[in-house]
Amino acid sequence: MNLLVTGGCGFIGSNFIRFVHNARPQWKITNLDALTYSGNPENLADLDSQPWYTFTHGSINDRTLLDKLMPQADAVVHFAAESHVDRSILDSGPFIQTNIVGTQCLLDALRANDINKRFVHVSTDEVYGELPIDKPDVKFTEQTPIAPNSPYSASKAGSDLLVAAYHHTFSLDTVITRCSNNFGPYQFPEKVIPLFVTNLIEGKKVPLYGDGQNIRDWIHVDDHCEAVLAVLEKGKPGQAYNIGGNNEQSNLQLTRAILETLGKGKDMIQHVEDRLGHDRRYAIDCSKMKQELNWQPTRSAWPQALEKTVQWYTENETWWRNVKSGQYRQYYQQQYGNRTTN
Ligand SMILES: NC(=O)c1ccc[n+]([C@@H]2O[C@H](COP(=O)([O-])OP(=O)(O)OC[C@H]3O[C@@H](n4cnc5c(N)ncnc54)[C@H](O)[C@@H]3O)[C@@H](O)[C@H]2O)c1
Repeated sequence: MNLLVTGGCGFIGSNFIRFVHNARPQWKITNLDALTYSGNPENLADLDSQPWYTFTHGSINDRTLLDKLMPQADAVVHFAAESHVDRSILDSGPFIQTNIVGTQCLLDALRANDINKRFVHVSTDEVYGELPIDKPDVKFTEQTPIAPNSPYSASKAGSDLLVAAYHHTFSLDTVITRCSNNFGPYQFPEKVIPLFVTNLIEGKKVPLYGDGQNIRDWIHVDDHCEAVLAVLEKGKPGQAYNIGGNNEQSNLQLTRAILETLGKGKDMIQHVEDRLGHDRRYAIDCSKMKQELNWQPTRSAWPQALEKTVQWYTENETWWRNVKSGQYRQYYQQQYGNRTTN
């Protein structure tokens, strides 16, 4: 298998490449990444000389490049995206360009080169909108209508609909995954868990949005990677699959758990104005993954999984200090030049 992974220098993509190599050591993997602010070559620096791994610096919006890469790939797993809701509220432009136009570019390249290649589109539960916090039994299923609320989730929903349309119209072998919030190593420290952990190690307070009652279903990134691999190998063409951790936590519960793990007090919480349009609750019903693909989360339960992740950030201070200070950008500018790709 020659697998083309897009966005492999980001948080989930880099964990996925390691996960797949461990699970399928005979596979060859090409990683296409534009190295935007969240794409960090240090996440995979130790793989540079591995014969099974090739890094290509470039954008999913570059059709000429895609036409060169696509004939060599047997399948594509598409992670590349603008991924941070707060950034999409400040400027939705890059989200439309990468998440919608970039996905269209990939689909067209796939269509032009070989429509029988499997295309796994990695999406998010946020495309379903939000759930009430007073009805804990109600969860997102694959039948829940798409109703995104943020510019980020709207751009991901747009790409989901394009993927489904290309399956319906051109019979492309596409599958969509919709996962809840991930945690684990190598997450860019603008996202809540690495931001809070690294702030606390630096002696800074943690900014908690609004009343802290917003609920997310937290999944360890390795559970997500395992589920994406199962969908790649066994998912039915044209289907969507929900992936979750069965681990609902309010932001306040999450914050208290991080404070406790690091031995810090509640005085380190700084309540800040709520995010605009902040979705109240996400919760995933992933029974379809269990019934059809025999997958369920096994690594996401708290407190152990959270404690292990906190420990990773305490033991890998150089990694996140480089990211926070922008050091890694100098590293890749030396390696790959100043070319801006998107
Ligand atoms: N993080 C989560 O909790 C979560 C949950 C569900 C789904 N997802 C989805 O998973 C995917 C990966 O998320 P993440 O958290 O790892 O994001 P990330 O921001 O850490 O990584 C995104 C990667 O995409 C690359 N990229 C951006 N634009 C590109 C382009 N035009 N061409 C090539 N590469 C480009 C970046 O350089 C980066 O390496 C996204 O599609 C996201 O929507 C994330």
